[in-house]
Amino acid sequence: MITPRLQDALNEQMKNEFFSAYLYMAMAGYFQSEDLPGFANWMRVQALEEMTHGEKFFTFICDTQGRTDLRAFTAPCNDFASPLEAMTYGLKHENFVTDSINKLMDVAIEENHHGAKIFLQWFVTEQIEEESNFSLIIRKLKRVEGDGRGLLMLDQELATRVFVPPTTGV
Ligand code: FEO
Repeated sequence: MITPRLQDALNEQMKNEFFSAYLYMAMAGYFQSEDLPGFANWMRVQALEEMTHGEKFFTFICDTQGRTDLRAFTAPCNDFASPLEAMTYGLKHENFVTDSINKLMDVAIEENHHGAKIFLQWFVTEQIEEESNFSLIIRKLKRVEGDGRGLLMLDQELATRVFVPPTTGV
C-alpha cells in the first residue's frame, strides 16, 4: 500500500518521465531537420529509455495497490538555435528530473515506505548517468564549435547508440 501523498508524488514523477520521452522526440525532430541523424538517433534512444522509466512508475503504483493518474503536460520545445543549445536544454531538463526524484525520495522516507525507497534508489543512480551523458556531449560540442567536420564526426559517434531495455530495478 502507498499513502495518498506518496501516490500523488509517484504519479507526478511518472508524468515527468513520459514528458521526458516527448521532449526528446521533439529534440530528435530538431536534429533530423538539421541533417544530424546521429544526434537524432541518440535522442530517439533516449526517448525510448524514458518510456521505460515511466512504465516502471506505472508498474510500481499498480504493484503497491495504488491508482495510476496519467496527467497532462504542455508541449515541449521543438526548436533550438544550435545543437549545443539543444543539448544544454536537455541537461537542464535532467537537472530538473534529478531534483524531482530527490524530492520524491524525501517523500518516501517521510512516509516510511521502504519498498518505495528501494524502488527509487535505481532512479537516483540512473540520474547520475543521465546527467553525465548529456554533460559529456556538451563538452564535446564545445570542443568542435565552428568545426563542421568535428560536428559530423560526433554525429557519427552518436549514431551508434542502441536502445537496451533496462533489466535492473523494479
Ligand atoms: Fe528518466 Fe532522463 O529521466
